[in-house]
Formats: sequence, C-alpha cells, structure tokens
Amino acid sequence: MSTITADLTGFPEALRSTLAEEAVRAVPDVQVLDMYSEAGSAVYHDFTLADASEVPELVRAVRSTSGPVLELAAGSGRITLPLLAIGRPVCAVDLSEPMIDLLSRRLEQAPQRLARACETVVADITEFERPAQFGAIVVGTTSLSLLDADQRARTFARCRTNTLPDGRLILTTSVLTGTDDERIVTVTGASGATYQVVDVPKPAEGSRWTVVIAQGGARPMALWSQIRLLSAEVLAEEVRQAGFEIVDQQLIPGERYSSVLLQASLRNAGRPRGEHS
Ligand SMILES: C[S@@+](CC[C@H](N)C(=O)[O-])C[C@H]1O[C@@H](n2cnc3c(N)ncnc32)[C@H](O)[C@@H]1O
Repeated sequence: MSTITADLTGFPEALRSTLAEEAVRAVPDVQVLDMYSEAGSAVYHDFTLADASEVPELVRAVRSTSGPVLELAAGSGRITLPLLAIGRPVCAVDLSEPMIDLLSRRLEQAPQRLARACETVVADITEFERPAQFGAIVVGTTSLSLLDADQRARTFARCRTNTLPDGRLILTTSVLTGTDDERIVTVTGASGATYQVVDVPKPAEGSRWTVVIAQGGARPMALWSQIRLLSAEVLAEEVRQAGFEIVDQQLIPGERYSSVLLQASLRNAGRPRGEHS
C-alpha cells in the first residue's frame, strides 16, 4: 500500500483496506466526497453521458405505454432525453439540485419540442406525489439501490398513487453476474477526461461500492457511492406489497453486472376504485 499520506476525511469505513483505499491514498491532496454532491454530480454526468446502458430497453418498455412519463431519480438526464425523443412528456424528478441543473442545461441545448415536453422537479422520490397522472413511471440505473427498504416502500406507495389505472411501473436493478473481486478500470468521460473507477463488491454485507477518482480539476476528488445489492426477487416482492403485479421481467446482460428490468401494473387495474381482491 502507498505510504503517501492523504486526508481521508469522509472516506467510508466499509472501504478501509480495500483496493479503493489504496487507489485513493495514492492521490496527493485528494478530497473525498459523496458521488451525488455538487462537485460529484458534474463528474457523474461527464463519465455517464455516453453510457447507453439500459436505455434501449427502458425506451422500448415505455413505448408500450401511453400518457405522461414520470422518471424518478432522473439525474442529469441520461434516460430522460431518449424518453423525450420518442415524443412523450416527461416529469423528471431528482433530489439533487446540481443534477437537475445539469439536466436543465441539456434541455436548453435540445430541440424546443423536447425541452417544452420536460418538467424538472427537485424532490425526494419517497415523497413525490401527483395522484393518477402517469402512464409510465421509470426508475433506472442503480437508483433504487441507493434507497433502504423503508425508503423503497415509501417510493412504491407513491408510485401506486401517481400511476394512472392502466399505467406501468418500469424498474431496473443491477445484479452481480461476474466475479466479486475488487477491480479498477479507467473510463474516459464525454469531455475527454479520464477517471479511475474502483468497484468493491461486498456481497456478504449486501452492497457494493463504487469510487471514482477524478484528477483533472483544480483538486483531485474521490467520489464514493454505496449501491445496495437488490435482487430481482426482493424487488418484485416489494413491488407486489405496494399493490402491483409483475407483468414482465427481462435480463439485460452486462460484463460484470447485469440489469433486471421489471414491469408492473396495478393489481386491481380495470376494477372500480375501492374494490380489492
Ligand atoms: C445512479 S444515479 C441515476 C441517474 C440517472 N437516472 C442515470 O441513469 O444516469 C442516481 C440518482 O438518484 C438520485 N437520488 C438518490 N436518492 C434520491 C431520492 N431519495 N430522491 C430523488 N432522487 C434521489 C441521485 O441524486 C442521482 O441523481
């Protein structure tokens, strides 16, 4: 391990003695931050801008629905822009103001018909309520894995309220389908900047951690994110508990992690309101 001393204030305890700590310690004057902090958001945006993971599958699922789309944890719009491009109005919600600002800037550059069809909202998805408004509710990437079980239950309860009677809940979760060794790769962002991305699976603790080391700016940053390992089975059960039924399940294969895309409908869809099985 490197002998360079680095100030690891804010570095998660769970990442001590891992490849991530070794990589971060080797960077002089590094600043440790949450991935979704203001500075982290710009880096996340840059290194995911060209990443099309899950996008074709989510767009295809939304195409089979009608009505406005609610995209939860929309971030800087990696999935939002393709959803707008198929001609659907999208309400994009994210807790992070910097992420929503990045999305707003992308919309300013986009064709007017897309920008006009998008509403951006800074809000917590566990609390966001617009009763019976949406024909499709989308939660992609690893967003649900950032929430604990109680937060997910509250999110799905809101989804039940917010969906139209014939609406669809369209969700993905990321599952480990490769080996669980710690790994470091170099990724080039849309700006041409390079990032070291350290992946630390901790299956025994029920999560994995990603640390992105960005050295291009005024001060190097190490951005961490904890992603809970949320199996498709657990996710499906939580969605059922919230009053939905699973109508489709699809594996989106990846090299180390794959995604599982679940689609769900309201369980009592088609029955008069107030009538339950
Ligand atoms: C993995 S990123 C996904 C962003 C985008 N969907 C994409 O595919 O690039 C997760 C997003 O979830 C947001 N987020 C985390 N917790 C949230 C919450 N409780 N309410 C709303 N957004 C949340 C973060 O701010 C971040 O933008």
